[in-house]
Amino acid sequence: MPITTPLELTRRQFWKAGGALALAGALPARGHAATATSAPASLRLTAAPARASMVGDDHPATAVWAYGGSVPGPVLRVRQGARFRAVVENRLDEDTTVHWHGIRLPNAMDGVPGLTQPPIRPGARFTYEFTPPDAGTFWYHPHDNSLVQQGRGLAGALIVEEAEPPRVDRELLWVIQDWRLTRDAQVALGFGGRMEAAMAGRLGNTVTVNGRVPDDVPVRAGERVRLRIVNAATARIVALRFEGHRPLVVALDGQPCEPHEPVGGRLLLGPAMRADLILDMADRPGSRHAVIDGFHDRLAYELVALAYERGAPLREHALDASVRLPPNPLPQPDLATAERHELVLQGGMMGGMGMMGMRGAAWAINGMSMTGKGDTHMPPLLSLARRRTCVLSLRNETAWWHPMHLHGHSFLVLMRNGTAVAGAEWGDTVLVEPRQTVEVAFVADNPGAWMLHCHVMDHEVSGLMGVLRVA
Ligand code: C2O
Ligand code: CU
Ligand code: CU
Repeated sequence: MPITTPLELTRRQFWKAGGALALAGALPARGHAATATSAPASLRLTAAPARASMVGDDHPATAVWAYGGSVPGPVLRVRQGARFRAVVENRLDEDTTVHWHGIRLPNAMDGVPGLTQPPIRPGARFTYEFTPPDAGTFWYHPHDNSLVQQGRGLAGALIVEEAEPPRVDRELLWVIQDWRLTRDAQVALGFGGRMEAAMAGRLGNTVTVNGRVPDDVPVRAGERVRLRIVNAATARIVALRFEGHRPLVVALDGQPCEPHEPVGGRLLLGPAMRADLILDMADRPGSRHAVIDGFHDRLAYELVALAYERGAPLREHALDASVRLPPNPLPQPDLATAERHELVLQGGMMGGMGMMGMRGAAWAINGMSMTGKGDTHMPPLLSLARRRTCVLSLRNETAWWHPMHLHGHSFLVLMRNGTAVAGAEWGDTVLVEPRQTVEVAFVADNPGAWMLHCHVMDHEVSGLMGVLRVA
């Protein structure tokens, strides 16, 4: 299936165009201009049109929609258990909301227009306030006209800091976005193409890290880095291979896991998924190592590279300190008393639904297609008893990948195709392969109406979405 687009500006050209920002891709843990301080008393976040220089100085700046004037938006940091408050101002000329992806928060703060709050009208404000119970790497994005608003750049990282983080020398954050740019570096029109909605979604031709086509990331021999990666792309799945390095995954979707090397040496992250890695820079000063995205085999490309400085190593042997993150206060599912439900993902090209089924939908869950920003008149897919464990079986009958996301809860991934998942793998988004069945479990302890949807934006708005109600 071809995934390339007929655009003329290629990644190779973009690579040549790069070159200015030595530190693109590397954000210090604190002190970056765009970094809010911990536990802001009240933060202001404006969504507005802006211009961003993403592909190098010999191309014009790109007209984007941005939080706080930058793409991605400012890195927001809050301490675990501290109050977070953000006044969001809408200076777009359409409605918007902000969703705090992965945070277990009260339903009224979840940012789903028509379901948990009225949309924020142009010129209006809305105040979000919550206390994040879990430390970890989260992110924020609009939940209104999501395909277009996120596709034009509205997204940012939200980091909830542990009281006692593991010892590292430095922290890096890579927010990955994928853009379909025209020859003059503008966001191409044509969001919501029917063909791509029924296939892999709107894949771009330019991948940025922290809003730039990245230059090499300078690293120092011997140092230990905590690398937080957020896949904020609207449709692109990445499979990252770190040449010459053995990263340890210590958290997925913000939730600590048993430290392990990526399965098969590839860190697979669908849209909306995050990983925290501990990376020991164990190679020689002066060496350079690519980080390759090889999800689409024949279209593998170098996302970014680690470039060792020439100076003496920081230390001779890897740091002798635990890489394990402190646990989050997640409610443990009780499988013995669980209620069990099956959700069947249907449709798409070659999915037997016809390319477009009812009401312009390309996809369905259990035969129901919620589209657009979410049709709140539709009955919920499931109504769950409060505090009961729910085991959800997500059966993908389609020929396409779906990063399935549940709001307001984190789930434990139990099984993939009937095989038990090793370790305790928690998440809020689980990547379901074509024809695969994935079983997840969570305690329905957060009352309200919660979205469950595919995070490929084209899929979400064309039917792969529904609501779970927790009484
Ligand atoms: Cu990032 Cu409804 O989700
Ligand atoms: Cu979410
Ligand atoms: Cu999908």
